[in-house]
Amino acid sequence: MSKLFPSLYDLTMQPLEKRKFQKIRSGMLTMASGRVLEIGAGTGINFPLYKNADRVDAVEPNQAMIEKSLSRKNEAAVPIQIHQQSAESLKFMENTFDSAVATLVFCTIPNPEKALAEIRRVCKPQAKILFFEHVKMEQPALAFAQEALNPIWKRICDGCHLNRNTLQAIQDSGIKITNVTAYYKGLFLVTECENPDSSALFC
Ligand SMILES: C[S@@+](CC[C@H](N)C(=O)[O-])C[C@H]1O[C@@H](n2cnc3c(N)ncnc32)[C@H](O)[C@@H]1O
Repeated sequence: MSKLFPSLYDLTMQPLEKRKFQKIRSGMLTMASGRVLEIGAGTGINFPLYKNADRVDAVEPNQAMIEKSLSRKNEAAVPIQIHQQSAESLKFMENTFDSAVATLVFCTIPNPEKALAEIRRVCKPQAKILFFEHVKMEQPALAFAQEALNPIWKRICDGCHLNRNTLQAIQDSGIKITNVTAYYKGLFLVTECENPDSSALFC
């Protein structure tokens, strides 16, 4: 993982955060309650926005990102514990979490299917699972542009894919989608979901 990316991340995101993302994040994160799992917490941009969580377990594999997130962890209104882990191999027991959150991270996770299966495993049945992700757009010309830009984008942005159909991946994982809100012509989606009963895993 690059060292440059963590130092530039907040700076490059600042215009979008100010214009729109902070509002989107706050609205979504008010729905996260009880014990919350956050996947790929990065620089901890979400940490000060948790209002209804009892506690947050944030996983993040990149040590440089973790270091950047420490000041925001201290600003948070709720207790936050950071774990250096990858989403594909979560070190938590089954049925641990009441909510799970992933923001701008399923574009980067090397094995999204495995990560979604892990989220299902560690979340309780009916847990709220919330995603704010950029995805492959439906409009053909825009989707084509995303495909064309993807190889260079991945190199610049630390493995971020512009062309992932994360909504489809969520659906394929068996997680139940309850609401989708699109922003920027469908480039960004807030996807509200519910963890199905784990017995459904074996159907
Ligand atoms: C674009 S940043 C997003 C950070 C933050 N969630 C946000 O909303 O700004 C993507 C993050 O995913 C993390 N990441 C990459 N691979 C991961 C994995 N396998 N499991 C969990 N997080 C991962 C990266 O280290 C990085 O911090």
